[in-house]
Amino acid sequence: MKILVLSRNGALYSTQSIVKAAKVRGHEVILFDHLHCNIIIEKGKPQLLTGHDLLEDVDAVIPRIGASATAYGAAIIRQLEGMGIFTTVASDALLKARDKLTCMQILAAHGLDVPKTGISAGDTCSPTVYDHISTGRAVVKLLSSTQGLGVILVDSKNQGQSVVEGFHRVGQDVLIQEFIEDAKGSDIRAFVVDGQIVGAMVRQALPGEFRSNIHRGASSYIADLSPEEIDIALKATKILGLDIAGVDILRSKRGPLILEVNASPGLEGIEGTTKVDIAGKIIEFIEKRVNK
Ligand SMILES: Nc1ncnc2c1ncn2[C@@H]1O[C@H](COP(=O)(O)OP(=O)(O)OP(=O)(O)O)[C@@H](O)[C@H]1O
Ligand SMILES: [Mg+2]
Repeated sequence: MKILVLSRNGALYSTQSIVKAAKVRGHEVILFDHLHCNIIIEKGKPQLLTGHDLLEDVDAVIPRIGASATAYGAAIIRQLEGMGIFTTVASDALLKARDKLTCMQILAAHGLDVPKTGISAGDTCSPTVYDHISTGRAVVKLLSSTQGLGVILVDSKNQGQSVVEGFHRVGQDVLIQEFIEDAKGSDIRAFVVDGQIVGAMVRQALPGEFRSNIHRGASSYIADLSPEEIDIALKATKILGLDIAGVDILRSKRGPLILEVNASPGLEGIEGTTKVDIAGKIIEFIEKRVNK
């Protein structure tokens, strides 16, 4: 097969791992930065240029679209969908999962448990929203947070209000979320490929820190998932229309809570921790779906 890998940075571990897994299995790989792709829209004749070259004869695309280029990345995927090319992530699913608010709304509407979450567009309503979420501690989170940056634990409504006002002042939307103390600074990343959990890890924050992001110094080890955790991870992935996802779960007294579903999950942490060839699983999934 000829597989197009869309990635802003070919040197990234995840990109390299995917390219290697594809080549090992005898596939041809084109690696290209999606921000250097050009779209030609015309009735009945969608086309994509990688730089100056017309893209032809590609069997599948693996989009690795980061948070900095979601909208254009999704437009590129949509164009490829129009050209009938198999994609490991659908444009609509990417957009739904990437938006924390949309993602939470959809999952809760489908009966999956999530941390109770409130949002207000202006400063005026946020104290009221806070009252609905907590009488004490809560998490204030930038809608655009990544790597734990913009995820803040506040002790009181007053503190929460100050943080919300500060973010609104600089034009950033935030949400206020129930703080899941039971998680004890850890979360679970369950990696789903084609309706199966192919690897799972616990990430544990540094002492004194509640954010379990690896970028914030967290450590990780293999997770043993409960049937309930497996069920919620697979359901969340399916509901969002994803085939490949990194599902983040908080363990709480009332059961597993979905924190986030990542449509372009990194491979370094999960492959390093579990020693599973996740990139290989992704390529095998494509081989199964694309009849060639
Ligand atoms: N409501 C919460 N209760 C307890 N811990 C939380 C809560 N929300 C977030 N955390 C902790 O903070 C970490 C970062 O939060 P989150 O995953 O929501 O944002 P992010 O990592 O910045 O975003 P992204 O995962 O998209 O990069 C989580 O992994 C988790 O350990
Ligand atoms: Mg996260």
